[in-house]
Amino acid sequence: MSYDFTTRLDRRRSGSYKWNDMLDKNPNVARGIVPLSVADMEFVNPPEIIEALHEWLDDAVLGYAAPTDEFFDAVVDWQRRRHLWPADRRFVVTTSGVVPALYTAVRSLTDINDAVICQTPVYGPFTNAVEVSGRKLLANSLRLVEDAEKSGSHRFEMDFDDLRAKAEDPSTKMLLLCNPHNPVGRAWSADELRRLLDICVENDVIVVSDEIHGDIVMPGQKHTSIMQVADAGEYDHVMVLTAPSKTFNIAGCQASVAFVPDDELRKRFSTGLKIQGVFGLNSFAYPATIAAYTRCDEWLEELNQVVWENYVFLKGFFASYMPEVEVFPLEATYLAWLDFRAWGLTAGELEQFMQTEALLFLDEGYVFGEEGAGFERINLACPRGVLEEALERLAFAARERKLGTYGGNA
Ligand SMILES: Cc1ncc(COP(=O)(O)O)c(C=O)c1O
Repeated sequence: MSYDFTTRLDRRRSGSYKWNDMLDKNPNVARGIVPLSVADMEFVNPPEIIEALHEWLDDAVLGYAAPTDEFFDAVVDWQRRRHLWPADRRFVVTTSGVVPALYTAVRSLTDINDAVICQTPVYGPFTNAVEVSGRKLLANSLRLVEDAEKSGSHRFEMDFDDLRAKAEDPSTKMLLLCNPHNPVGRAWSADELRRLLDICVENDVIVVSDEIHGDIVMPGQKHTSIMQVADAGEYDHVMVLTAPSKTFNIAGCQASVAFVPDDELRKRFSTGLKIQGVFGLNSFAYPATIAAYTRCDEWLEELNQVVWENYVFLKGFFASYMPEVEVFPLEATYLAWLDFRAWGLTAGELEQFMQTEALLFLDEGYVFGEEGAGFERINLACPRGVLEEALERLAFAARERKLGTYGGNA
């Protein structure tokens, strides 16, 4: 590795949301314990981004900022060369985060009491955007099926029959697609996306594809943008929300973009932002995005390798010490999804055990929807030593509590 993926960070008192959340849950947690929850990384940023921001700041005047040609070229070129679809700068609307954009999409492109489909379990703000906006949430739950290629293993798939039935409901106007999927780690195939889009277009349902994790793809896997499968005649039913923030750990810069190819949809979405009182981005968002999308390809290749090696380690560790816990295949994202239901704890007991006995701060499965109860999501974007210690604490605490195969109770 030519980049640094091993330095252990201590982000206490740095204003990190993730670390503050851990300390709120367990204020006495010892130094050295690292939260493995919220999707940001425990790695130093690519040095190219920090250098670019230093250079930029030397000459900056911090007045109102606007996107430059260089910014548009960077975001469009990234999509064209890495995600292989003909992105165009005309399609771009800047947004101060993908979550704000999800909320705006729901509010500007559907009406009160319209129904919106989410594929649960899913990243919490999806269902929240629907519910707090007074729209009806239709849960098209993912199916947990036997993996045809590996006996005894399971994988998540879309339930197309249920999707069709929900899309045919005349009040359904939108589907929020998580592509790749957080938390189940699927990189949806072109085939799956084609089937989904067919159902949605036939039923006049707009697909809002959140592709924020689309750059974090495991070896041998592929992220397919919904724009790769949509033809131009379907542009009035698709939009993509994306950002460099997960990929390069710059969520604090609040830079993201919506690609909305259809003029009418784009106008409604942009008006929706104004109605919510949301205008330009902060000044740092632009130079950080430009540096990320033009100077950091090599860092990203190494990151994906490091995440994959952490996943292989995680899988091996559970197979050896807690084989009753199922670790789902990781195709994309740096977030692994684990099934602890064999331990027979309630979701509340599992959470309590993790935070106070194993000193493990993960994302509890139930926050992704009721299907997630008994599951946990672990963030693999951390130095290997951090992951090893976390899993050792878990295996030790499980034995102490007589949980699982080696605790004598599974
Ligand atoms: C699927 C998904 N969308 C959006 C976000 C957050 O986006 P932003 O920070 O740009 O609002 C996350 C963060 O975890 C995510 O997992």
